[in-house]
Amino acid sequence: MTTQAEPAVAATAYHQGAFVPFTEAALPLTTQALQYGTGVFEGIRAHASADGGRLLLFRAHDHYERFLRSCRLLRIETPHTVDELVEITCELLQRNGTTTDTYLRPLGYKLALLPGTRPGVGLSGISDALSITGFPMGAYTPPGGIRCTVSSWVRPRSAAIPIHAKVTGGYVNNALAADEARAAGYDDAILLDGRGRVCEASTANVFAVRAGRLLTPPATADLLPGITRDTVLTLAADHGIEADEDELDVSDLHGADEVFLTGTGIGITPVNEVSGHPIGAGEPGPITRSIARHYARTIRGGGDPQHQHWLTPVRIGRG
Ligand SMILES: Cc1ncc(COP(=O)(O)O)c(C=O)c1O
Repeated sequence: MTTQAEPAVAATAYHQGAFVPFTEAALPLTTQALQYGTGVFEGIRAHASADGGRLLLFRAHDHYERFLRSCRLLRIETPHTVDELVEITCELLQRNGTTTDTYLRPLGYKLALLPGTRPGVGLSGISDALSITGFPMGAYTPPGGIRCTVSSWVRPRSAAIPIHAKVTGGYVNNALAADEARAAGYDDAILLDGRGRVCEASTANVFAVRAGRLLTPPATADLLPGITRDTVLTLAADHGIEADEDELDVSDLHGADEVFLTGTGIGITPVNEVSGHPIGAGEPGPITRSIARHYARTIRGGGDPQHQHWLTPVRIGRG
């Protein structure tokens, strides 16, 4: 995977109830979420439509539903409904005059101790805040695929940390795994649970292909059940590709015909190697390529009519 410089953040951010210049969207050092990891986030993409006339948010309602579920888990109160959050996001894109593929990062977080609250770790008696930033981001993994290693870091059980929510503090586990993988010359890490079952990659879900069928760990495993994962399962069903949600171990990956990762950031990324074992022919296989094609069409408005509700059009340009 190529290393890229930090992308420039869009000039305007949504910060604590107002649209402000990004450079003015500052937080105090005492921010509780900074001290204790008590924030939740989402990653949402907007893509330029295939016909060039529109920007399309992909599954924004699903992302914000997950966001509000994550908020509830951490007792972060947001005054907004899903529809309002989608509207704010559209307005943010419009105010920035966004015309190209963009990644949006809503962040809900514990901010400051309310009067009478004792300093220390906790979730109650602390004010809450919401900020949304965006930055231009196209595909950042090579279409020819990546190399993954199996991490020595184990995915925590969801009884230890809410893995099904996107909690900022929990991403220390993902960061350690990604960093270890890159230091060893790989592009990404695949994490197992304490019993050796495949959970997910550092910020993506994992699929294997065996004899033309998709295999992916069940949504009840210790993983984030991704919206892209759900999209892939839906598109596979549409196109007659059968799928099983079942436990996988490392040998299932080594022995697979194809392996690919799915995520909002990473899209559909073929995996050519897992810890030194080439997958299939060591290049993207036909099922991965077919799923990637359907996905690429869907997110840019050229997919099947029954999935148009996944897209929220945003008027492009200022004014
Ligand atoms: C740990 C983890 N797993 C899976 C995913 C994929 O989820 P989604 O497809 O909803 O982006 C992500 C990215 O958000 C992630 O951070």
